[in-house]
Amino acid sequence: MNVTDAINRRKSVRSYTGEAPSEAALDAILKAAEEAPVGMGHYQNYSLTVVTNEQVLDAIEKAGAAFFNNPGWHPLYGAPVLVVVSAKGPESRLSNATYSSAACIVQNMALEAVEQGVGCCHIWGAIAGLVQNPDLVARLGLPEGFVPCCAIALGMTSQAYEPREIDHGRIVTNRVE
Ligand SMILES: Cc1cc2nc3c(=O)[nH]c(=O)nc-3n(C[C@H](O)[C@H](O)[C@H](O)COP(=O)(O)O)c2cc1C
Repeated sequence: MNVTDAINRRKSVRSYTGEAPSEAALDAILKAAEEAPVGMGHYQNYSLTVVTNEQVLDAIEKAGAAFFNNPGWHPLYGAPVLVVVSAKGPESRLSNATYSSAACIVQNMALEAVEQGVGCCHIWGAIAGLVQNPDLVARLGLPEGFVPCCAIALGMTSQAYEPREIDHGRIVTNRVE
């Protein structure tokens, strides 16, 4: 698949079969994360945590649901894998560029997930709940001083990444000529 096709076909998958991606597919997705651009090239300020532990996934879902005051919500949609992108904190000093870099890392993983036929969804809501819960953050085993920024849910899905019709006026664009 070429890059243009992958960008067009990528979509947020919010329904998973429960089957995890193969190790080969997950490796390719993690490799794509490492190939993302980050501000100043400071790769040492970022970390990836692959969460497959069902109790931890469940706790993150509950933390996200509680944060949004929506106890019945499943903000990870039953995905069997969550890759959390963290950055060197403290949280109060994480800059716009840091969050943007974390988002670039997630988007690279999303595009590789399309290539691998693995369902994926950017996850920020549940992470907002996670960071409020230091005991749960501790279960991620992050390097000292790192703070979760965002994540991607991954898993097999019955949905297909088909070509999408996109309204190309949906982001206002002007030109200065
Ligand atoms: C920064 C960012 C945060 C997002 N956070 C969530 C999230 O927490 N949960 C969710 O279901 N989708 C989340 N999304 C997915 C968006 O809702 C989705 O990309 C958008 O509605 C467009 O739909 P599409 O991804 O299917 O093209 C997020 C997307 C981005 C870029």
